[in-house]
Amino acid sequence: MARINENYRKLQAGYLFPEIGRRVAAFQQANPDAAIIKLGIGDVTLPLAPAVVEAMRSAAQEMGTAEGFRGYGPERGGYDFLVEAVREHDFAARGVEIAADELFFSDGSKQDSGNFQEIFDAGCRIAVTDPVYPVYVDTNVMAGRSGEIGADGYYDGILYLPATEENGFTPDPPSSPVDLIYLCSPNNPTGSVTSRQNLESWVAYAREHGAVIVFDAAYDAFISDPALPRSIFEIEGARECAVEMRSFSKRAGFTGVRCAYTVVPQEVCGRSADGTRVPLNELWARRQATKFNSVPYPTQRAAEAVFSPDGRKQTGEQVAHYQENAQVLRAGLKGAGFRVFGGVHAPYIWMRTPEGMNSWECFDRLLCDAHVVGTPGAGFGPAGEGYIRISAFNSRENVAEAVARIRSAFAAG
Ligand code: MLT
Repeated sequence: MARINENYRKLQAGYLFPEIGRRVAAFQQANPDAAIIKLGIGDVTLPLAPAVVEAMRSAAQEMGTAEGFRGYGPERGGYDFLVEAVREHDFAARGVEIAADELFFSDGSKQDSGNFQEIFDAGCRIAVTDPVYPVYVDTNVMAGRSGEIGADGYYDGILYLPATEENGFTPDPPSSPVDLIYLCSPNNPTGSVTSRQNLESWVAYAREHGAVIVFDAAYDAFISDPALPRSIFEIEGARECAVEMRSFSKRAGFTGVRCAYTVVPQEVCGRSADGTRVPLNELWARRQATKFNSVPYPTQRAAEAVFSPDGRKQTGEQVAHYQENAQVLRAGLKGAGFRVFGGVHAPYIWMRTPEGMNSWECFDRLLCDAHVVGTPGAGFGPAGEGYIRISAFNSRENVAEAVARIRSAFAAG
């Protein structure tokens, strides 16, 4: 009988969001009249922007003609029109030069941030902030880069860097060397954002120790202060030590459409057993060519339309809608005496659980008494205990109603 990958058995229970989905479905079944407001998983709720829909429709029609039909896409995933749009709008506009062969398109940053570890040795030591997007940890556990999970919720062999109220949820580099570092800014789940200075210290650390930073910028569209870095490549020296993931999911409502890209500069290298420097770009190109067949043409045309004047205006309004929702949540919960963080440059509010309850107790209380779904902080790592994440992805009415219900559920408790 085929032996399984034992590393999978080290993983804790199920993946966080399906587990929440199961609890919510059970509650809904038992309480069919409850009008549940879902502010759990960060899934967009607004329909696709008209410019995006039109580009998709027209590309689908083009595919139905002999001249316009396309089969497999380009080797690095992106058609020239999308590659050039990204280079111009996401990078050149902020003074960053990214070459066309440094961009790899895919069907999502979840996949890219989960898959990127494959090109590294199983013995590499990884560091994550805690709490953290579970994909970074789980995929490294699956690959054998950890020991067992302890009673404290930490996997042996992984370095966890606590993101706390004291450090503004943006930890500094550790004193010991690691090989791979996962950073996410704006941060999921804490809604914090990394300052230029903090990012500079990470780049300096990575260069000193020969480490690679996997920088997840999936929420960059939510940064409203132009002085804050949106890309790690705005930091000098980052091309030697970082790769970056960007997504159309939250910036343009593509969670169900699927389009993202990863930047792998030519300079960033790992080393082989004999010490030879090996460009990660080559390895990632090889991995993607073997395991992935590009993003559908209509999807890429839709992504290109995000950069058109209409597309920028329409998707900008969508992001502004979610940003205003975050303000409604922040102000409403703060005004009721809750300790809240994030939600300024991110679509997530990170709220201290009231009355000393743990984060799953708080989740249950919100669900049962307020009929509001959040995400328990402990699901993102041990340092998330005592917090609950509330997403701003919903209608204004639902967000305002959720605030009122949360306030009254806890006032009554
Ligand atoms: C989240 O809620 O953390 C995100 O929606 C998950 C994801 O983007 O995969």
